[in-house]
Order: sequence, then C-alpha cells, then structure tokens
Amino acid sequence: MAKAPKIQYQCSDCGASFPKWAGQCADCGAWNTLQEQVPAASKAAGGRFGGYAGDARSQSVRRLSDVAAERSERISTGLGELDRVLGGGLVLGSVALIGGDPGIGKSTLLIQAMALLAEQMPVLYVSGEESAEQISLRAQRLGLSGEQVQLLTETCVERIIGLTQQHAPRALVLDSIQTFYTEELQSAPGSVAQVRESAARLVRFAKQTGTSLFLVGHVTKEGALAGPRVLEHMVDTVLYFEGESGSQFRLIRAIKNRFGAVNELGVFAMTDKGLREVANPSAIFLSRHEEQVPGSAILVTREGTRPLLVEVQALVDQSPLGNPRRVALGLGQNRLSMLLAVLHRHGGIGMFDQDVFLNVVGGVRVTEPAADLAVLLAVLSSFRDRPLPNDLVTFGEVGLAGEVRPVPSGQERLREAAKHGFRRAIVPRANAPKKPIDGLEVVAVSRIGEAIEAL
Ligand code: TYD
Ligand code: MG
Repeated sequence: MAKAPKIQYQCSDCGASFPKWAGQCADCGAWNTLQEQVPAASKAAGGRFGGYAGDARSQSVRRLSDVAAERSERISTGLGELDRVLGGGLVLGSVALIGGDPGIGKSTLLIQAMALLAEQMPVLYVSGEESAEQISLRAQRLGLSGEQVQLLTETCVERIIGLTQQHAPRALVLDSIQTFYTEELQSAPGSVAQVRESAARLVRFAKQTGTSLFLVGHVTKEGALAGPRVLEHMVDTVLYFEGESGSQFRLIRAIKNRFGAVNELGVFAMTDKGLREVANPSAIFLSRHEEQVPGSAILVTREGTRPLLVEVQALVDQSPLGNPRRVALGLGQNRLSMLLAVLHRHGGIGMFDQDVFLNVVGGVRVTEPAADLAVLLAVLSSFRDRPLPNDLVTFGEVGLAGEVRPVPSGQERLREAAKHGFRRAIVPRANAPKKPIDGLEVVAVSRIGEAIEAL
C-alpha cells in the first residue's frame, strides 16, 4: 500500500522543517512562520542533492597540490565601489546575492553595472518584478545607452535557463529571486521551497557555464533576507545594502565573500542620475557642528580594508521609568549595557536612573568592538553635559575588567584622522605609534579610568 505523503511544517524565514506545527520556529526563533508543506516528489530532491558547486562530469580524488589553481580573473564592473565589495572585481562564474530594503537601489545599481559591463561582454538582465518598459524608462533616465544590454521579463526558471543558453551571456542578473519559480514544485513563487530550488538551479547553471550571476533578494522587516538562509550558503558573495533610505548615501557591505575581505564597505550616493560612487568616503558621516556639543565623539572605525571616521552620539537623560531605557542604533544594544556596567564598576559612574540613547550618524552600522571607547566618551560627555574637544578622535575596545584593549590597524586609523585635521587622539596603549604622527597628539590609555581622566 502506498504511503500517503507526510505533511511537514517549514519555517518561511529560515527554511527549517519540523514534523509538528508550533507557534515558534525552534531553529531561528521566529514566530508564526511555520507553514504546512507537502514534500516534493523524490525527483526534485535528487536534483537538490546533486550539489551545485561541482559540475555534472564525474570527478576523481586528486592531491591538492596537483590541482592547477587557475588565477580567477577579475573583471571591473566599471563601478569602483562595487568592485571593492566584490573583492576587487567580478569573478567569472561567481554568484552574488544582493539584499536590501525595497526602494534602496538594488535594481538601479545592477542596471548601471550591467550597462557598463556590457561594453566588455554580453550581459542579460532578467526581471520578474518590473516590465521591460519600466526598465527601459529607468535606463533612459539614468542616461545609459542600453544598446548592449539584453533584457528578459520572465519568471519561470526553466525558460530563463533555456533562453540564457541561447544568448550565452557572461553576466546574468535575476531581479528578484522571490519572483521566480521552477516547474518542478507546486508551491507558489516566494515560498521557501521555490526560492531554494530556483536558486539552486540557477547557481548550478552559473557554475557549469561560468556565467557570473547576481541574485537580488528582498529583505524582511527584521532585516534578514526573506526566504531561507540557505541562500546565503549557496552563493559565493552576499552583499547587503545598509543606510537609511532618508539619507542620500547608500552603503553596500559584503557580509560573506569567498573571493575577498568581508565587512568591506562600498559607498554610493543616490542622485537624480542614479547611484554615484563616493570614492573617498572616510569623512562623509561626520556632521561638522558649528559649536562643540555634548554627547558627540568621533570614532575611527575600519570597514573592511579602509578606515572610516564616524560620529557616535549619545543622549543621557533622567529617566521617568523604573526600568531606564537603553537604545542603540547602529551599535549593539547588549554592548551598550555592558559598557555602562563597566563604567559603573570601574569608572565609578552609575547611570541606573538615566535613559541612554546611542546613535551612529549616517545610518552606518559599526560592528567592531573598537567603538567601545567612543561610546563611553560620548555617554560620559552627555551625562556631564560637557562637550569633547572637536578635534579629538578615539577608538579602542573595552574589556569587562575595565581595561582598554588594542584594536587592529591602529597606525592606519591615526593617520586617517590626522589627514582630516584631527589634532588629538585617545587610543589604547598598545596602539600608540612608535614614531609621532605629524600634528597629532596621542594619549595612550590602558584603563578606562585613565581615559576619563584624560578628558
Ligand atoms: P530601485 O533600484 O528600484 O530599488 P530596489 O530595486 O532596491 O527596490 O530604487 C528606486 C529608488 O531609487 C526610488 O525610491 C527612487 C530612487 N532613484 C533615485 O533617486 N534616482 C534615480 O536616478 C533612480 C533610478 C532611482
Ligand atoms: Mg527592484
């Protein structure tokens, strides 16, 4: 007797599946995301296990040193900042996933990059979201010739692959992965199974033919790529758009890259002529105040391979609540709580009856602990209502024992600060330069007490 197909419940956020329904996904913790799924016929599953990294030819076991490592050639996309986040240019046969909020500029970036790439090689732009007229209108507005760019509006993966084989482009854009479907599966486009299977097919196709693939992915309200996280594992590079949509600047961060540094940041400005590169962004996020204001500290952070000066702002205010608020934008909330505890325990300054708000200007997200010292100084400055000197920069990690720990590339950060006219720096002792840097007075500290005193 044939068994009835077993019903499974799959999380629409992370793709984990369970035999029983529950209100919360046990894997990723999302609520109300489990959906009933009938597993697809085994044929589709066979394809899934076929692997997407290798090709169809049978492979043999070889010694690592015998494998002729072909130097993967880099192709410039014509947009320097995009090349930067890709790790120095486009690698043929690589797959990049580009995520971001709706309207942040994913389609704009890719149509611009394709128009430039088209001068070197055949490219194809597949859209499942916009009509050909819409895309053409946008290209005209952007002043792109579009003569070499091939366009296709189609959502069936099998037909896309068929047509792509005929035209043999070297670079292929799929905008967006949530709109495509494969005929193998019954579920609706955008469902976890469809997104995963469509992406797997396209990735396999790209690897077999050496086509560079750009997949566009939507982002959920919580900021994660919608659909299964498994997409992030299947691709070589994951790029995220960051930044506030209200701001003119658009940041692209590489959060995974098999061909280059992660956390590399590309900076663009959205103009009426599309995205323009900001080649020297180190100081664009400083809001130069006319006068010194309390609660503002300048941090030299390092994003990927270059230093960036950003302003950390804090507001400390008497709290009307029994449980004061700790709000951090662009920085970790837990990190803030930890730093306040360190400040109390090792600096003797308590803020248990104060609300503390923290913000990084310009919508930049700072992920490195080197921001700790700047956070402490900004909080302290607001608490005491005394501005920091406006020619002061700082960086350094703060430990639970109240020690100030060194951070990577201290010299480079200090030189960047000096270049932008900063005259004073409070840095970890181990980051103090051996040779003095022209025009920069460096105060080296090893405990937070010393940093507070140095003010
Ligand atoms: P778009 O690339 O369509 O976003 P996504 O594909 O990520 O959803 O971006 C559209 C936004 O960019 C829209 O809000 C208008 C703005 N924009 C400009 O400001 N200037 C331009 O030249 C273009 C083409 C778009
Ligand atoms: Mg779009």
